[in-house]
Amino acid sequence: MALKKDFLWGGATAANQCEGGYNLDGRGLANVDVVPHGKDRFPIILGEMKHLDFDDTHFYPAKEAIDMYHHWKEDLALFAEMGFKTYRMSLAWTRIFPNGDENEPNEAGLAFYEEIFKECQRLGIEPLVTITHFDCPIHLIKEYGGWRNRKMVDFYENLVRTIFTRYKGLVHYWLTFNEINMLLHAPFMGAGIVFEEGENKEQVKYIAAHHELLASALATKIAHEIDPENKIGCMLAAGDFYPYDCHPDNVAEAQAKNRENFFFIDVQSRGNYPNYALKSLERQGIKLPIETGDLEILAENTVDFISFSYYSSRVAKVTGESEKSAGNIFEAVSNPYLESSEWGWQIDPKGLRITMNTIYDRYQKPLFIVENGLGAVDTPDEKGEINDNYRIAYLAAHIAEMKKAVELDGVELLGYTSWGCIDLVSAGTGEMSKRYGFIYVDRDDVGNGSLKRTAKKSFYWYKKVIATNGEDL
Ligand code: BG6
Repeated sequence: MALKKDFLWGGATAANQCEGGYNLDGRGLANVDVVPHGKDRFPIILGEMKHLDFDDTHFYPAKEAIDMYHHWKEDLALFAEMGFKTYRMSLAWTRIFPNGDENEPNEAGLAFYEEIFKECQRLGIEPLVTITHFDCPIHLIKEYGGWRNRKMVDFYENLVRTIFTRYKGLVHYWLTFNEINMLLHAPFMGAGIVFEEGENKEQVKYIAAHHELLASALATKIAHEIDPENKIGCMLAAGDFYPYDCHPDNVAEAQAKNRENFFFIDVQSRGNYPNYALKSLERQGIKLPIETGDLEILAENTVDFISFSYYSSRVAKVTGESEKSAGNIFEAVSNPYLESSEWGWQIDPKGLRITMNTIYDRYQKPLFIVENGLGAVDTPDEKGEINDNYRIAYLAAHIAEMKKAVELDGVELLGYTSWGCIDLVSAGTGEMSKRYGFIYVDRDDVGNGSLKRTAKKSFYWYKKVIATNGEDL
C-alpha cells in the first residue's frame, strides 16, 4: 500500500511569521507583533513579563517578517512550481477583527485572504487554514486578559462564523488552534496570558484551556453547520516522550508527560475530559470553569482529523542527574542515541513513525502531519546557490518513516506539510537565520536584506518527491 493518490503534499507557514504589513489596511495589533527578537523574547512568550506595545529598544521581526503581504502571489507561484497540493497558512485575527470584539469585520482583511484562496484554487492548491496560530488581538489582552476570560469564546465564535461563511467553498480544511498544548508552556503565545503578581499560574492556564477547548468545539459545530464539506482538525505539538530507561519511575514520568500533551486533543478528539486529568487537577486544587451545557458541546463536536507538528521525540527521566536538550519551548532530557541540529533540537526520524502510531492507536482518526523540518543556517555559495543537503537528508529520513507508518502499520494519513516551506521568522527565537525553507529569503535577524526569493537545492528535491508521490526520496 503506497501513499494515497490524492495525498496532500505541501508546506506550512503562519501569518505572524511571514506576512508583515502589521499596520496595513486596518489591521490591529496582536500579541505576536510585540514579541521582540533578543533576550526579552522568552520571558514575554512565557507570560512572565508584561510587554504589550512597541518600544525603541527592541527589534520586532513580525512587523515586516518576509513581507508576504506584498509577495504572496510570487510565493504561491513558487509553491505551485514545486507541485504543492496543499498550503497550510494562518489568518491574522486582527486583519479581520482589528480589536477582536467588534461586531463587523474589516472588509480589507477579509478580501486579502479571499484573494489568496482564489489564487490557490486557480493553482490547484487546497488551503489548510489555521484559525489562530499563536495569535491574539492585543486589545483583547488589555481589556479582557486574553483566554482567561470566557468572553473570548464569543469573540472567537464571531471570528469563525465570519470566516466559514465568507470562505465557504474556497477552504475545506481548518485547524482551530495551532499546537494547543503550547498554552501550558508559552501562555502568552498560546492564550494571550500575562500573569499577575502572586496568582496561581496553573489555575489560570487551565481556565484558558477550557475556554479554548470550548471555542474549538463550537468552531467545529459551526463549521459543519455552515458547510458539511468542512473538515476540522485539532493540532498538537507532538513527539512521544520515551522513558530514559526501564526504571519504573522513568516509565511513569514518560506516561505522565505524554498525558500532559494529550490532555487537549483527548478532549477535542474523544469529547470529554480524561479521568487522569480530572484526578490530577483535583489533587492540585485546580477547577475547570465548566458551565451548564459546556460538556455537551465538547461531547457533540469532536474533530474530524488530528493534525500535529513533529520535530523530535523527547526523553523523560526523574532518576539522577540528566543532560538537557533544546526544543521549541519544551526542554527535555537529552537522548544519548540521537544527533542534534545547530539549535540543539534532537533528530529522530523513527520517532515520527512511533509518534504517528501512538496517536493513531489512541484516536483512530485520520492524521495530518502539518509541521516537520530542520531549522539550519543556510549560506549561499559564490554563485548565490544554497546546497542544503542537510535539510534534504532530514526530510528524506522523516518522510521514509512516515511512509512506513502508512504502508507497514496502516496509519491513515491525509497529508504532509513541511514547516516553513519558505524561510520565515522563528517563533521560538525571532531569528531569520534559523531557516526551514525550500525557498531562501534574503533577510537577516535585524531586518536587513532585499527580501529576494531564491530556490534552494531542496526546492528541486521536494518537487521530485511530490511528483513521484514520495517514491523517489
Ligand atoms: C512550532 C510552531 O512550534 O514550531 C511554529 O507551530 C514554529 O510556529 C515551529 O515556527 C518551529 O519552531 P522555531 O522556534 O524554530 O520557529
